[in-house]
Amino acid sequence: MSNDNSKSQSSTSNRDRVLIFDTTLRDGEQSPGATMTFEEKLEVADILDTMGVDIIEAGFPIASEGDFEAVTAISKRVKNATVAGLARAALNDIDRCAEAVKHARRARIHTFISTSPLHMKYKLQKEPHEVLEMVTAQVARARNYVEDVEWSAEDGTRTEMDFLCRTVEAAIKAGATTINIPDTVGYTVPEEYERIFRTVRERVPNSDKAIFSVHCHNDLGLAVANTLAGLAGGARQIECTINGIGERAGNAALEEVVMALRTRADVLPYHNQIEATMLTRASKLVSAVTSFPVQYNKAIVGRNAFAHESGIHQDGMLKNAQTYEIMTPASVGVSKTSLVMGKHSGRNAFRSKLKELGYDLGDNALNDAFKRFKDLADRKKIVYDEDIEALVDDEIGHAGERIKVEALTVIAGTMGPQTATLTLDIDGKPVTKQATGNGPVDAIFNAIKALVANEAVLELYQVQAVTEGTDAQAEVSVRLAENGRSVTAKGADPDTLVASARAYVAALNKLMVKRLKGKPEPMTARLKP
Ligand code: KIV
Ligand code: ZN
Repeated sequence: MSNDNSKSQSSTSNRDRVLIFDTTLRDGEQSPGATMTFEEKLEVADILDTMGVDIIEAGFPIASEGDFEAVTAISKRVKNATVAGLARAALNDIDRCAEAVKHARRARIHTFISTSPLHMKYKLQKEPHEVLEMVTAQVARARNYVEDVEWSAEDGTRTEMDFLCRTVEAAIKAGATTINIPDTVGYTVPEEYERIFRTVRERVPNSDKAIFSVHCHNDLGLAVANTLAGLAGGARQIECTINGIGERAGNAALEEVVMALRTRADVLPYHNQIEATMLTRASKLVSAVTSFPVQYNKAIVGRNAFAHESGIHQDGMLKNAQTYEIMTPASVGVSKTSLVMGKHSGRNAFRSKLKELGYDLGDNALNDAFKRFKDLADRKKIVYDEDIEALVDDEIGHAGERIKVEALTVIAGTMGPQTATLTLDIDGKPVTKQATGNGPVDAIFNAIKALVANEAVLELYQVQAVTEGTDAQAEVSVRLAENGRSVTAKGADPDTLVASARAYVAALNKLMVKRLKGKPEPMTARLKP
């Protein structure tokens, strides 16, 4: 056994290739509250393409104008991966999807329909023979546009086997090149999922003409185990998302599947082309743009995934890292040297640290980030890599925004009333307001509301420490909803109250961008007299 994951892989020639199909931008974005902006989607698509994802499912073009625009733009910019769009069985869905993916070097239409008795009866209100006809029609329609067509039997794991086989045969006959049997509701177990693939592949006469695909939801925490079982049953495409985000409990996590295949190459004879050292970076990006924190003990990318606290473990680690680590941190992009930057570090050291962490900032952004780093280093004894990442992500996130937090003074404590005096820079104009509230955060939010008129409802307010200690940076996530739209944003600062103000203002900026896209409105129109 070896800790060096590249060495533990046997030669790839005698191992089956599996395609990695990432649906962070489609199923992942369907997670309640995980909406990404247009620019954020492009950023995620870029990292997926660079890390070697085979197929990027970029969105659901008929779902909204924003989804259509994002799928179109991603199709135009992706260099290596196939770009897929999702479409229901309706012909106009497929036409809209084709319109969006047509710019891609390699385009795929992914079309689906429910095949389980429950879904056909209650959701579709259709008889099985009608669904069968729709399968042929939807795949044929998609094949008019592209050669690469994926068909999914929604709720496949609760579908009767005979009917599943008939629909799969019809889809392949109509031209589907990939057949996906999703575990839509996260209901299956590994043995059963493996058997479904084996049976369908054996029984369907034309099954050798398509690649079979797994798509597992995590309602019972079995998504990754089921995914691997599907491979044992003959599937050769894996649908997954970064950090496992997705409908309800999410999808199989890309990073977990990839590292399971890599670390246990001895018993899992499949290979893929993912650059695993980019997994941590991709996880951080998706967490930042969705404002979904990664749980500390999350496999592969959680901050404790390579941390050892107990004396016995630390002792073992010092003697030989393989005693308690089955993968090296470096193999997933975690640098071991996390404690090197401080108040004496200069601009060049800061620049090269950012490079090491995977950031490439322009001169202005670098200057702003350096200023904030110095400020942080003055206030905080130890500046960890995670602090710098939070700071830069925050800086990038706020670049180009129209409302900025200029200054904040808060009176808090037992005496009350808690009072916030806040200065915002709005379109270059400083405006100040004092407000009270039920606690300091409430006072700050009231001051913001007094300066920028809005109907937004606060749906989530969450504080997380970026690193350890009482001088740790706080990362605050805020979700605001206004007129049926919701946005999430983060703010980071060693002062939790400043981070709260930054997060709230960042969320307002996002709402403002959405609003301005629909109907131009000067920012000052939202200022209270
Ligand atoms: O979970 C599911 O069934 C899906 C399909 C659209 C593939 O996401
Ligand atoms: Zn799904």
